[in-house]
Amino acid sequence: MRDNAAILITGGAGFIGCHVVKRFVKNYPQYKIINLDALTYAGNLENLIEIEDADNYQFVKGDINDAAFIDELFDTHKFEAVIHLAAESHVDRSITDPLAFVRTNVMGTLNLLNAFKRIWENDFEGKLFYHISTDEVYGTLGETGLFTEETSYAPNSPYSASKASSDHFVRAYGETYKMPFVMSNCSNNYGPNQFPEKLIPLFINNIIHNKPLPVYGDGNYTRDWLYVIDHAAAIDLIFHNGRKGETYNIGGFNEWKNIDLVKLLCKQMDEKLGRDPGTSEDLITYVKDRPGHDLRYAIDAAKINEELGWEPSVTFEQGLKLTIDWYLENREWLEHVTSGDYQNYYKKQYN
Ligand code: NAD
Ligand code: TYD
Repeated sequence: MRDNAAILITGGAGFIGCHVVKRFVKNYPQYKIINLDALTYAGNLENLIEIEDADNYQFVKGDINDAAFIDELFDTHKFEAVIHLAAESHVDRSITDPLAFVRTNVMGTLNLLNAFKRIWENDFEGKLFYHISTDEVYGTLGETGLFTEETSYAPNSPYSASKASSDHFVRAYGETYKMPFVMSNCSNNYGPNQFPEKLIPLFINNIIHNKPLPVYGDGNYTRDWLYVIDHAAAIDLIFHNGRKGETYNIGGFNEWKNIDLVKLLCKQMDEKLGRDPGTSEDLITYVKDRPGHDLRYAIDAAKINEELGWEPSVTFEQGLKLTIDWYLENREWLEHVTSGDYQNYYKKQYN
């Protein structure tokens, strides 16, 4: 990407987006980074305090569903690249409100694609639309096997169906309009700044407050966990060195059954909080299963490893410790985000 390029990062006040924004603002003073975020319940500008005054950074509050606004923003800044993370991201919410996911994840992505195409279609050279997606588009694995870039799409939740749809549109714009794009599909992230509706931060918050830990079904569901800082590093590599028109799978080489992960988390939390061993495990409560719950996700990350030399930098035990430390040191952040809308959602989901 050329010096002085204006780069649009969407969803930068959310969990993964804030780490991507921080990395780009700090490492690439030659770019102008514009962070566009609607600040839904999941977006929080407190995530970006350390870079908010940087010269190469600007925050814009706005909705990717507003096509006229998006067009205007592209006219103003002439973004040469987009890193698109803004999305509705929580599977459980998608089960109760699928349309919200279609609006933001499908229509919102189309608005960005259209704006990007409109200003560059006669001059795509050196431009890039980078779409951030998820391994959940591949559906579920059985007890064995891994998702590769060639695995067929078979989304099972409204969330993954909306992400799959947006992936298809990105690829279609690449084919039809020759729009330069790259895409990555990542496994479950964890780490600082994740909103406490997802498994790990929800359970950390509940352990702090001695609340039940609601494990869905029998807890024998498997996810492949990646530390968010390692995802941001992978995005940086793909953005700069990934081949145009390609998809890269990103994963942690790190599969855990939910119940084993929760037990490890309980053990580490007891140690950190100086509680007797077993205290947190007593909070585990098996609850009604998620409908359409995918049994297992696991990524084959050989392509990004071999082509771009990427690999995770921390083990899961290290990453989980760092994550717990962050949440314990940032209780004010947790308190701020666990008020208002989130409380209403929590009552609806778990009562
Ligand atoms: P998040 O929910 O923490 O953050 C999403 C951000 O998007 C929030 O800041 C929110 O305010 C913003 N946003 C939502 N709707 C918007 C709209 N209409 N206009 C503008 N901004 C809007 O999500 P996350 O976990 O950081 O995920 C980021 C991206 O990475 C998503 O595209 C998600 O599908 C993908 N992803 C997430 C994971 C994961 O484990 N969290 C794994 C793989 C891929
Ligand atoms: P989640 O963090 O919602 O991510 P995803 O659904 O995108 O994988 O959930 C991770 C796993 O944890 C998933 O198998 C569902 C399970 N889970 C629970 O058992 N209890 C909970 O309260 C939540 C939020 C998730």
